Amino acid sequence: MNIYTRLKKDHEKQRELCKELAKTQSGSENRANLWEELKVELGAHALAEEQVFYSAMMEKPDGTEEARHSVAEHKDMTDLIEELDAMDQSADIWMKKFEKLKHEVIHHVDEEEADIFPVARKVISKDAAEDMAQDFDKRKDAEEKSVA
Ligand SMILES: [Fe+2]
Ligand SMILES: [Fe+2]
Repeated sequence: MNIYTRLKKDHEKQRELCKELAKTQSGSENRANLWEELKVELGAHALAEEQVFYSAMMEKPDGTEEARHSVAEHKDMTDLIEELDAMDQSADIWMKKFEKLKHEVIHHVDEEEADIFPVARKVISKDAAEDMAQDFDKRKDAEEKSVA
């Protein structure tokens, strides 16, 4: 498996979790559980992606701009996640803010797949893209453990 397939697998999970969470009832246990799952998934994915994938793209002159753009979006999402995490999940405003995060997450993963991966395929060798998938798993596992 190469890094693109590996990242897409997480993106699918993130789209699914966002959709499920948007359907939950105010203050439900389901909402609390899905939020915990999504929060860990988004955080660990973004950090591992930066350490393994974007750090490699950043080194290539033709990849720097895309990498910077994505990392900036990670920062925006992290800020929103922190805000949501500190808020009362049963409040109406929580779901309004969550809808904003959902929109950002879906925009971000769509953009990575449609715009960033084609650029990465030009600047990162096939062998490196294969190795990156394993490195990504290792980094992501470590990040998940550190927040769990
Ligand atoms: Fe990302
Ligand atoms: Fe991603």
